[in-house]
Amino acid sequence: MKQHPSTPGLPGSLPRLDHVVPAPASVAPSETPYQITRSTHIVVDDSPETRRTGEYLARILRPSTGYRLPVTTHGADGIRLRLAEGPFGAEGYRLDSGQGGVTVTAAEPAGLFHGVQTLRQLLPAAVEKDTVQPGPWPVAGGTVEDSPRYGWRGAMLDVSRHFFTVDQVKRFIDQLALYKINKLHLHLTDDQGWRIAIDSWPRLATHGGSTEVGGGPGGYYTKAQYEEIVRYAASRYLEVVPEIDLPGHTNAALASYAELNRDGVAPPLYTGTEVGFSSLCVGKEITYDFVDDVIRELAALTPGRYLHIGGDEADSTSHEDYVKFMDRVQPVVAKYGKTAVGWHQLTGATPAKGVLAQYWGLDSTSAEEKAQVVKAAQGGTGLILSPADRVYLDMKYTKDTPLGLSWAGYVEVRRSYDWDPEAYVPGLPAGAVRGVEAPLWTEAIENPGHVEYMAFPRLPGVAELGWSAAGTRDWERYKVRLAAQAERWNALGIEWYRSPEVPWGSDGR
Ligand code: ACM
Repeated sequence: MKQHPSTPGLPGSLPRLDHVVPAPASVAPSETPYQITRSTHIVVDDSPETRRTGEYLARILRPSTGYRLPVTTHGADGIRLRLAEGPFGAEGYRLDSGQGGVTVTAAEPAGLFHGVQTLRQLLPAAVEKDTVQPGPWPVAGGTVEDSPRYGWRGAMLDVSRHFFTVDQVKRFIDQLALYKINKLHLHLTDDQGWRIAIDSWPRLATHGGSTEVGGGPGGYYTKAQYEEIVRYAASRYLEVVPEIDLPGHTNAALASYAELNRDGVAPPLYTGTEVGFSSLCVGKEITYDFVDDVIRELAALTPGRYLHIGGDEADSTSHEDYVKFMDRVQPVVAKYGKTAVGWHQLTGATPAKGVLAQYWGLDSTSAEEKAQVVKAAQGGTGLILSPADRVYLDMKYTKDTPLGLSWAGYVEVRRSYDWDPEAYVPGLPAGAVRGVEAPLWTEAIENPGHVEYMAFPRLPGVAELGWSAAGTRDWERYKVRLAAQAERWNALGIEWYRSPEVPWGSDGR
């Protein structure tokens, strides 16, 4: 592939068309960049979605360039965003950049938005700063044609073990959008905290949400706040997948309502990090009233298709009860118009038609457990791949990195990238894998700086596994493209781990 001509004397690195992460389906560089100047317009077609994406782009470009960059429906020189028929699919796009301008074309608004993420990466990293920079602002020249491998490209944030505010979640969403992630899975409930207001069971949030791991004040989202997160995510073409973890991981609920307990006695709130000690009472009818109310209210807050019901580590629920419970709860999700997602232990019960299972096993997971997952997949259960020893973002990078856990081993950057979602669980039928997701559990992660340090640089690699064609995966090439991202993270003020596996620039990047 031809390299972009270098221009001496420019601050920072010139962007390259072939350095985009996730790698596009096809890239054809040309010699002539487009230059964003004071007279550049962002020209959009008439649709409100296109205008919104135009305004979004303008808000990114204006602070650093200092240009007005008006978003208009007419005008010649500039950046054009347009919806048009074409072979783009639901999320794909085409980007043409040359002397006369940059045009992003897509069939759907999501595709335009993803094309704009590519455009950002074709500009010098300094464009991401929030104060006026000297420029100039070349957009690497050439043509990109692109569409994703999988429809599910997710990240999960555990807001239960440590609570994260609306603004903190929005910042994370912006970071996910950069890499074309399209699902934000929010782990809203666990032993240590219930984080979403439920009107019919108000103490879940007011009591169950009143602390967190380590005994801090915790918190919860009001319905209005939660809807704000959902809207913000939607404006970045991410679908929020809310999780209520059942029937285990429920101490916060059990502590809030004595009647949910087998013995009618509410346990104390819990601020430690053990798992597997709590269970809803499968034999009590009130359990199902509770589940129905929670799922009904949550489904009403959820424009997306999916509702995650957990199902992992139900070690205090007998197998028989677990199966019985899931048999009753999966239809409730369907009744409220949603598709259930569960951790892969759900495959040990009777997965309902159409549900998805999220695989979080390891290489060392037993053959029996893997066989159960394969059997469910053969029966039509779709899989989201989140192997803990590859993409659990809460795992330490090495024994010497300061944050996180290590029960699934150390997960350095190469390890998180260099695996095949289709082959990770041997014997899966073709089409079973619906995508990948990187979960970030927060037992040991307390603030947004911690989140960023664990997500960067692993998250872009998982995004690439989800977006880019199978044949793209090549660590030696990827690590060079990844290194080029660091200047962007610095410009955005993102904290990140300077892995020795990656050839970061010698200028401190
Ligand atoms: C999990 O890590 N317990 C899904």
